[in-house]
Amino acid sequence: MRIAIIGSGYVGLVSGACFADLGHSVTCIDSDTRKIESLRTGVSPFYEPGLEVLVHHNVEAGRLAFATTIAGNVAGADAVFIAVGTPGRRGDGHADLSAVFAATREIARHAQGFTVIVTKSTVPVGTSDDIERVIREENPAADIAVVSNPEFLREGSAISDFRHPDRIVVGFSDERAGAVMTDIYRPLTRDRALLLSTGRRAAELIKYAANAFLALKITFINEIADLCEEAGADVQDIARGIGLDKRIGTHFLQAGPGFGGSCFPKDTLALVKTAQDYGRPLRLIETTVAINEQRKRGMARKIATACGGSVRGKTVAILGLTFKPNTDDMRGAPSLDIIRALQDQGAAIRAFDPVGMEAARPLLNDVAYATDPYDAARGAHALVIVTEWSDFQDLDFPRLKSLMETPVLVDLRNVYRPEDVRRHGFLVSAVGRPAPYRGLGFVPRLEWTDAWRHFDESPRWQAVALGGTAAEVTVPSERRALRGKDHSSRAPAA
Ligand SMILES: NC(=O)c1ccc[n+]([C@@H]2O[C@H](COP(=O)([O-])OP(=O)(O)OC[C@H]3O[C@@H](n4cnc5c(N)ncnc54)[C@H](O)[C@@H]3O)[C@@H](O)[C@H]2O)c1
Repeated sequence: MRIAIIGSGYVGLVSGACFADLGHSVTCIDSDTRKIESLRTGVSPFYEPGLEVLVHHNVEAGRLAFATTIAGNVAGADAVFIAVGTPGRRGDGHADLSAVFAATREIARHAQGFTVIVTKSTVPVGTSDDIERVIREENPAADIAVVSNPEFLREGSAISDFRHPDRIVVGFSDERAGAVMTDIYRPLTRDRALLLSTGRRAAELIKYAANAFLALKITFINEIADLCEEAGADVQDIARGIGLDKRIGTHFLQAGPGFGGSCFPKDTLALVKTAQDYGRPLRLIETTVAINEQRKRGMARKIATACGGSVRGKTVAILGLTFKPNTDDMRGAPSLDIIRALQDQGAAIRAFDPVGMEAARPLLNDVAYATDPYDAARGAHALVIVTEWSDFQDLDFPRLKSLMETPVLVDLRNVYRPEDVRRHGFLVSAVGRPAPYRGLGFVPRLEWTDAWRHFDESPRWQAVALGGTAAEVTVPSERRALRGKDHSSRAPAA
């Protein structure tokens, strides 16, 4: 089949390369000439594992080409996919469809013969009808059918997701369009991927409902994590304990700093707005959005607590900037909110990310970028894991301790078992994982950190931080004198 794809971003380029690899003849079009020039020299404009090789292979095979204009590149295509961005509209949070309609108008002007226009961009329910209307306005004679084919790939594993989808959702009303879509996806459906044919409105809504449900699941476990910290349970146990129930499933139950990325934040908000417009507000999703927004900045408070109550004048080392590992995408990354909140509170930031630093630079001010995790930790009062890159999963804690001002780890992704890191003399704060003293009466004795400052404000945290029964906690006498209290006589809160 001959396919044109408008928009060569994470979705358009991955889909284009994968369609070409399935044997179709594909032209990827983007109005950003720098992107296309970069692709023509064999360099992917963004980081996605395996993508550059796949693009190169299919260009060499003559199945994949690039263009900067719709004119001259859609005539003769069996299907034209729209994969342009649909960001949240500034001010009201509705999906901004201006790029979708701009592309639609141009396609309508230049398409020849029967052409299927496929919306791969995430668009609100009813958008296919609007696209059809725009086409009729622009070119009443055009023989075009509009299909909704939402995309479910995840950045970081996009190629594998595209090749092995759980389902392919295709919403259409014109049977000719349904036949074209079946032909396009036949190589995947042969491998038993389910092609789910629906009405267009259902297809559009499936995408939002899926993202909202996943965001809800993350938010649910995050709230359970907060309860765990107070109640003395480990959220990892809860996640496994409920996830093994097949009705619930283990995915999207990792507690953390709140969901981010290019899709969940904008799509949950857009769904909320759509539902309000229909007079059927989705209160669950409204609450999910609100909780998540608060949570990201709340993580800065968690870091301050680990630093003894304040980060003013302190240096915080951030490991991981992208919203998740294996992408350079900084859109909606929790690191942005966390770093800005820490800076507002007077912290200096050193940061390291394996691939995201270039994309982060224009978005953040006054951040010192490091060459590796150890360089980031130099002189820091706390080390914070914000993104769980594999590079951070086997850190040399004795080395980190020798470089840091105070050995404090805030593990916002629960990469480490806190007790393993405490063994190296670190004060550890994780998500939904209380100190093991609860119910046991003791935890291993830790080396001194400046957590003593926070002793009076939060005896519970003090017990977590210092670990141990009152008898085990020894406070240097000069610090006791400074505070005018004998902290060592205080029993940990139970
Ligand atoms: N990124 C994801 O993981 C993901 C997953 C599923 C669905 N989606 C949805 O897919 C859509 C695209 O997302 P993305 O992350 O690939 O966006 P992106 O910003 O990476 O890419 C969009 C591209 O479209 C180009 N573009 C915009 N207007 C154009 C026009 N008129 N003509 C030609 N090119 C144009 C831009 O230059 C850009 O390169 C969005 O609706 C998104 O919600 C994204």
